[in-house]
Amino acid sequence: MASLSTASRLCLRSASVANPAAVRAAALSTTAMRPAGGAASASYTSPFKGNESKGNKIPDFGKYMSKSSEGSNKLFSYFMVGAMGAMTAAGAKSTVQEFLVNMSASADVLAMAKVEVDLNAIPEGKNVIIKWRGKPVFIRHRTQEEIDQANKVNISSLRDPQSDDDRVKKPEWLVMLGVCTHLGCVPIGEAGDYGGWFCPCHGSHYDISGRIRKGPAPLNLEIPEYDFPEDGKLVVG
Ligand code: FES
Repeated sequence: MASLSTASRLCLRSASVANPAAVRAAALSTTAMRPAGGAASASYTSPFKGNESKGNKIPDFGKYMSKSSEGSNKLFSYFMVGAMGAMTAAGAKSTVQEFLVNMSASADVLAMAKVEVDLNAIPEGKNVIIKWRGKPVFIRHRTQEEIDQANKVNISSLRDPQSDDDRVKKPEWLVMLGVCTHLGCVPIGEAGDYGGWFCPCHGSHYDISGRIRKGPAPLNLEIPEYDFPEDGKLVVG
């Protein structure tokens, strides 16, 4: 190592004798030399003589540069960004719209959302079962005797306390879902210990107001949404 540094020192010394300015410049900078005058040039000349090939020359990108002014270039960029944004928003809107249309209820389901019943066809003291949204609905045309029986029950003794008035809009018409509140069986009408409905699956007894009186069911039979738009007509749903 010592012999190498001694040799380089000797080399420098002999060079400085021959051309002192060149040695000073080499000591100050090891970067590539720019052409005299400092003018910007697209080509680059390697300082390593004898090794000039295509690979160490910077290509001229001049032909790719825009000929238009900076303002018009910006205008074009803003237009493209705006147009792409608008197209993306329109695409997203149509995708979401398609998804929602597919998810919404079909026409036949909507048609079943409400069911109209002619009450004149149901005689007093009789039950009718209709299908609404895939579930059975019990419609009972109650007699005055049944209404009185439903009203004289001590509400505080009930498992799911509810007065008969709270379960009907017109006392003679009892409308409720025919689904047992225990595990969902369909109870049988005019059966059970309380003259109402009886669920044979596990033995739940409902009274003439559809209230649970005996057996494992925890709640009264559910009352669906319904209305009497005119005399003799019932709309469920
Ligand atoms: S499902 Fe009705 S009693 Fe169990």
